[in-house]
Amino acid sequence: MHVGWVGFGHSISGIRRNLRQLEYHTVKILPASVDDAEAILAIWNPVIAGTTVTFNNVEKSRTDVATMIKDRHTAGREFLVAHQGDNLLGFATYGPFRSGSGYANTVEHTVILAEQAKGNGVGRALLTALESHAKANGIHSMIASVSAENTIAVAFHKTLGFEQVAYIPEAGRKFGRWLDVVFLQKIL
Ligand SMILES: CC(C)(COP(=O)(O)OP(=O)(O)OC[C@H]1O[C@@H](n2cnc3c(N)ncnc32)[C@H](O)[C@@H]1OP(=O)(O)O)[C@@H](O)C(=O)NCCC(=O)NCCS
Repeated sequence: MHVGWVGFGHSISGIRRNLRQLEYHTVKILPASVDDAEAILAIWNPVIAGTTVTFNNVEKSRTDVATMIKDRHTAGREFLVAHQGDNLLGFATYGPFRSGSGYANTVEHTVILAEQAKGNGVGRALLTALESHAKANGIHSMIASVSAENTIAVAFHKTLGFEQVAYIPEAGRKFGRWLDVVFLQKIL
């Protein structure tokens, strides 16, 4: 799959954005392979260590990521990467929302891009591809669990048709402070 071309807008900022998107026109969205683990780590671990985008503060190893890719694919779930030439720009994956057979048709996903790849439609391409995979595999509903202070990710999900369904104050703790979490859901 390639990142879609959206056509030229009429404003200067629209033209600038479309020129950036042209640069990203050659991006390919592919199922992750274990060979991608190192490049995924290079994107993921700084987000874990330095931000509240994820509440987790335990950095992952190459084995953790390689195992996750294998396990997701074995379970019929998806783990996608966005490649441009030799560069891995980002990844997206989904897994269980909650344990228990009654939740089997609801999944929770993650999308994370390299800093330099943001704002060019790559996140949209990854999440759209993830949704297609989920829908084709009987998933009814996708949920994003987003730090409330991550307003960009909240806006991103709303643009892609997700609806805010819950706001849980002080659900997480990182860097010595409480963090609120927003759940955004899309019925597929
Ligand atoms: C959230 C994230 C995946 C978005 O990916 P992206 O490729 O930058 O987003 P896109 O370029 O595809 O933008 C799609 C829409 O999201 C919204 N959006 C993206 N960046 C935005 C920003 N900085 N401010 C406001 N809205 C923004 C816009 O509505 C945009 O639509 P438009 O291009 O028509 O204006 C990316 O910023 C990221 O990796 N963030 C860190 C990790 C994270 O927060 N993941 C989400 C938790 S699951």
